[in-house]
Amino acid sequence: MPTTARLLTVACLALLALTACSETPDPDTGDPAEQETSGESNAASGSTAELDYSLPPDDFSADPEAGRSLFRSNCMQCHGEEARGTDQGPPLIHRIYEPSHHPDITFHRAAALGVNQHHWEFGDMPPVAGITGEETAHIIAWIRQEQRAVGID
Ligand code: HEC
Repeated sequence: MPTTARLLTVACLALLALTACSETPDPDTGDPAEQETSGESNAASGSTAELDYSLPPDDFSADPEAGRSLFRSNCMQCHGEEARGTDQGPPLIHRIYEPSHHPDITFHRAAALGVNQHHWEFGDMPPVAGITGEETAHIIAWIRQEQRAVGID
C-alpha cells in the first residue's frame, strides 16, 4: 500500500521536525534582565553578549542635567517625559527600579543590550543604538536624582 507508506513517511517527517523544533535553544537564554540579580561580574558568565556594553571609568563624574537631556532624546518616547511611563514603556520613577532592586548595572545593560519583557506588558525594550556607557551614566544620575526626590532610594 504505497499511499499509506507515504503518509507514514510524511507523519514521521512531521514528528522529526517537531522534535527538532523543541530542541532549538531557548531564545531567552542570555536575557540581560534575567541576570540582573547576578551582580556586576562580567566574569561570572562566558557569554560574549555580557561584554557587549561599556561602563564609564571609575573616576567618571555623571551629570544629572546632561542625563535629563540624554533621557529626553533616547528614552522618553517610551518611558515618558519625566520618566513617568507611557503606553510604550514603564515609569522608571517607580519603586521597582530603586537601586536595591535595579542597580545601575541593570540600566547599562538595558540601554546597551535591551530588555526582554518580564515586569510589565509593554513588550521588549530594544537596545538603544549607539548609546555609550558615559551617556547612560548621565541618564542614571538624573533618574536616581528624580527617584530620591520622591523618596525612592
Ligand atoms: C522603544 C521603547 C523603549 C525605549 C526607547 C527605552 N526603553 Fe527602557 N524599557 C522599555 C520597556 C517596554 C521596558 C520594560 C520591560 C519589562 O520589564 O517588561 C523597559 C525597561 C527598562 C529598564 C528595566 C530593566 C530591567 O532590568 O528590568 C530600564 C533600566 C530601562 N528600560 C532604561 C531605559 C533607558 C535608560 C533608556 C534610554 C537610554 C530606555 N530604557 C529606552 C522600553 C523602552
